[in-house]
Amino acid sequence: MAKKSDSTSLDTIVSFAKRRGFVFQSSEIYGGFPAIYDYGPLGVELENNIKKSWWEYMVQFRPDIVGLDSAIFMHPKIWEASGHVAGFSDPLTECKSCHTRSRVDHLLEAAGVVADEKMSEEEINEIFNKNVRKVKCPNCGKSDFTEVKKFNLLVKSNLGNFAGDWDKDPVYLRGETCQGIYVNYKNVLDSSRVRIPFGIAQTGKAFRNEITARQFIFRTREFEQMEMQYFVHPEKEIEEYEKLKEYRWKYFTDYLGIKKENLKWHKHENLVFYAKEAYDIEYNFPFGFKELEGVHARGNYDLTQHSKFSKTDLSYTDPETKEKYVPHIIESSVGIARILLAVLTEAYIEEKLDGDTERVVLRLPPRLAPVKVAIFPLLKNKPQLVKKAKEIFDELKTKFMCEFDDAGNIGKMYRRQDEIGTPLCITVDFESLDNNDVTVRDRDTMKQERVKISELAQKISEKLNGE
Ligand code: GAP
Repeated sequence: MAKKSDSTSLDTIVSFAKRRGFVFQSSEIYGGFPAIYDYGPLGVELENNIKKSWWEYMVQFRPDIVGLDSAIFMHPKIWEASGHVAGFSDPLTECKSCHTRSRVDHLLEAAGVVADEKMSEEEINEIFNKNVRKVKCPNCGKSDFTEVKKFNLLVKSNLGNFAGDWDKDPVYLRGETCQGIYVNYKNVLDSSRVRIPFGIAQTGKAFRNEITARQFIFRTREFEQMEMQYFVHPEKEIEEYEKLKEYRWKYFTDYLGIKKENLKWHKHENLVFYAKEAYDIEYNFPFGFKELEGVHARGNYDLTQHSKFSKTDLSYTDPETKEKYVPHIIESSVGIARILLAVLTEAYIEEKLDGDTERVVLRLPPRLAPVKVAIFPLLKNKPQLVKKAKEIFDELKTKFMCEFDDAGNIGKMYRRQDEIGTPLCITVDFESLDNNDVTVRDRDTMKQERVKISELAQKISEKLNGE
C-alpha cells in the first residue's frame, strides 16, 4: 500500500491541524471523547468552503439538481424500511488479552484476506477462524479473539420518549442523510419543476456507532455527509451512472485540484442484492488508499421499500409518454471530513528555500483557503501605516475573508499565512501613503508586485478564480 512521505505522515497532519486551529479533539479538557472532533477557527472556514464548492458543483451548476435540508430525526419506521435496523452492522471482535475491540473485516484486510462488512455473521466467523493466526490485535499484537458478533451502528435517542425504556420504540439519529431525500422525493417532485432525470442534494450530520476510529477524522461517530440522489428511468440507470462517475471524478481533480495519481476507483465485488454497480473513489491518505466517496447505482430498492412501509405510491408517471414506473436511483455520497483530510494531506508541504531556510506552505486551491487575503502594515508602531492597512481591510472584508495582522515582522507574518494557505498578502508601507499602492505577495511563487489600492479587489478576484 502506497504511503505518503514522512513530511505528510498522519502525525504531522494531526499536530499541524491542532497547532493551527483546524481540528481539535472533542472535550479535550475532560480527557477527550472518542471518535468525535471539533473544528477550530480555520477548520470551520475550510469545512464551509468545501461545502460551498460541493453545493456550487452539485446544485448551482446543475439545472437538473435541487437542494434539500431534511431533519436529523425521522420516523423510526424509515430505518426499518431502509434495512438499517436489521442489517446496518459491522463485525466486531474483542482481543481476549487487552480487550481492544476491532472490526473484523479491517483486521482481515490488514492480514491480506478479502472480507467485508456485508457478510453474514456465520460467513465472517468462518473466514476469521480459518485465518486467525495471520491476524494480530492492533493494540497488543496477540492473536486471541472472541467470537465475531455483528454490531448495529444506528445511534439511539430518547427523543419524545418519556417512559425511559430506550429499547421500546427507539428513535434514531440518522445514520446517513440520503433517507431524508428518499422520503421527500414526492414533496420535491410535486412542489418544483423537476422532471426525471433529476437529483436532490443535501449536506448534514450523520451518526454511527463506529467500533473502531483510529485514523483521526477519517472515521468518526458524528460526521457530516454531502449526498446527491439522482432519480432516473430504469433503462437509463447505467448510462446516467457512468456520467455521474465522470462528473464526480472531475470535481476532485478539476475543481479541488487533487492530483490524479492520488485518486483511484475501487470496484465493490460483493454488491448488496439490489445494487446494480458500486464504485468508491479512493484517496491516497497518509495511511494508504482508502474510500473518499461512494458512487453507487441502487436500483429501485429505496423508493420501493419506502412505498411498501409508508403505504404511499412513490411511482412516477412520465408527463409525455404516461409511462408509470418506480424511478431507479444513483447516488454520490462523501464525508466532509474525508475531503478535509485529503486536501490537508495534498496541500501540506515542507519546502526548502534559498539560504538553507524552510517554510511550511499549505498549497490549498484558492477557493478552499480559509483566509483569502492577509493585510499588514510594514511597521506596527507607525500609526499612519496601521490606519491605512485597516482602511484596506475594511474595504476588502465585505468581499473576501480577510485577516488583519500587525503582530510580528513581515517575514514572520508571511510564514504564518503560508502555513494556513492564504493565497495573497498585502503590505502597506511608506510608499503606499504617497502613491496609493501596496505590495501584493503570492503564496506559491513568493513573488511581490505593486498594485494600486483601487485595483486590489479586481486583482484578488482574478487570483481566486485562477485567471
Ligand atoms: N448513503 C450511502 C452511504 O452513507 P457510506 O459508504 O456508508 O454510504 C458514504 O458513506 C460516505 O460517507 C463515505 O464514502 C465517507 O466519505 C463518509 N463516511 C461514512 N462513514 C463515515 C464516518 N464514520 N466518518 C466520516 N465519514 C464517513
